[in-house]
Amino acid sequence: GIIRHHKFEIRLQNVTRLCHTKSMVTVNGKFPGPRIIAREGDNVLVNVINHVPNNISIHWHGIRQLQSGWSDGPSYITQCPIQTGQSYVYNFTITGQRGTLWWHAHITWLRATVYGTLIILPKKNVPYPFPKPHKEVPILFGEWWNADPEAVISQALQTGAGPNVSDSYTINGLPGPLYNCSANETFKLKVKPGKTYLLRLINAALNDDLFFSIANHTLTVVEADALYVKPFETDILLITPGQTTNVLLKTKHYLAAANSTFIMAARPYFTGLGIFDNSTVAGILEYEYPNGSVSSSTFTNTSIKSLLPTLPPINGTSFVANFSSKFRSLANVQFPANVPKKVDRQFFFTVGLGSSPCPKNQTCQGPNGTKFSASMNNISFTLPTTAILQSYFFGKSNGVFTTDFPRFPLVPFNYTGTPPNNTFVANGTKVVVVKFNTSIEVVLQGTSILGAESHPLHMHGYNFFVVGQGFGNFDPKNDPSKFNLVDPVERNTVGIPSGGWIAIRFLADNPGVWFMHCHFDVHLSWGLKMAWIVLDGKLPNQKLPPPPSDLPKC
Ligand code: C2O
Repeated sequence: GIIRHHKFEIRLQNVTRLCHTKSMVTVNGKFPGPRIIAREGDNVLVNVINHVPNNISIHWHGIRQLQSGWSDGPSYITQCPIQTGQSYVYNFTITGQRGTLWWHAHITWLRATVYGTLIILPKKNVPYPFPKPHKEVPILFGEWWNADPEAVISQALQTGAGPNVSDSYTINGLPGPLYNCSANETFKLKVKPGKTYLLRLINAALNDDLFFSIANHTLTVVEADALYVKPFETDILLITPGQTTNVLLKTKHYLAAANSTFIMAARPYFTGLGIFDNSTVAGILEYEYPNGSVSSSTFTNTSIKSLLPTLPPINGTSFVANFSSKFRSLANVQFPANVPKKVDRQFFFTVGLGSSPCPKNQTCQGPNGTKFSASMNNISFTLPTTAILQSYFFGKSNGVFTTDFPRFPLVPFNYTGTPPNNTFVANGTKVVVVKFNTSIEVVLQGTSILGAESHPLHMHGYNFFVVGQGFGNFDPKNDPSKFNLVDPVERNTVGIPSGGWIAIRFLADNPGVWFMHCHFDVHLSWGLKMAWIVLDGKLPNQKLPPPPSDLPKC
């Protein structure tokens, strides 16, 4: 591999969408941010220089960070944030991954504006396991707030209420024609007839699972979270925040399609309670004439609505369950699925929303006058004021974190039936410590305390195999016998079904401190997160090296 240098200047930039101009935090003045392209085996160095008043850190979402945990990026987990006027060089080597990932700010809600594509090409002269595409196109889904997203979440945390929703969804930063004052802010994909395009889909939205489809076109899924999957065809995709999916788009033949346009669209999947944004971001697929020109398509809102692709209903859980069951690892000689067959340590984590008592002298606008909160095994995780990785590495955990994160819920209850009487959660900074090379199984059980809801669960530093999933309560007697240990999908983010559970397995072969959390930023802010400490192994190449000298201080 080669060394690739990048410079990320964090600066304020005026950006206009929906006829609303605001000054916002960006990388190099771009929204979405710059694209990073590297090959498997390359060493990537990104110098992040902070020129804004906010503290910041950047996470390379899905990068394994083998023995480079100091470059993972979540604030107060692996590093103190980069303060105004400071800089930090992220330094990692890409091993055993190829496909689409992304990067984003990892502190408060700054990732609303600070995110971009991270493409990992196979090693030189190594082909894709599918036909070489004519062109590759990143498609980043996001959200746009007229307000400052930082203000939106801090106000919600103060009142205990759910935060305001965004003003639009976006494709590559553009809201598309179905919002007010946005007709000129539409993503257009120009294509030639009879070709294959690789679309690199990334859901960078803060709080929404999204359905996506292109009218009159079938897509072939070939990769998820930078790992190839067994190809399958679909007209509609579901993609959770944090997930990436590569699909092949075969364009129609010339006679059928020259000079025609088709609408692509995304809108949320949502089963929870409370407010959500049921709007649609649309983009346009334009077929070129042979000479490369396109007919300037003029649409009215009504004509676009009549051309929208069909998407499942907003609460289309059966589509989601069926769709996610189609993902399978290649599991062949070249790309084996190394699923842990035996398990050294088993965990059962409940995942869900709850509430915490309203502080005295305050009125709270959460459920029944409480504050919204979220938890795993009833623990709502609080970020410390210094980084866990540093305090662990230097043996100074006192007052920073404790190692008593429970293996099982303290008081089991019927997770998908009547909610327990006392839904209050406990706050804490609790971690699980595991030995190097432990093989781990975690059952993640959604709770329905405030109504069933899906949770895109993301793990740092690892990919995991999704060996099982189901609705209702996990049944430890009968469910494990149905686990797929042959070709389960391997990924870094998975949706825990609304009113159900998933089971994951991974081998703890990467020493460090690794965050695991819901990738809905609102749930993350409410405490739906925990961390693993994976101890060093005995051999030199099984140890986390000391931190770089420019590691930020708190
Ligand atoms: Cu994409 Cu911890 O995040």
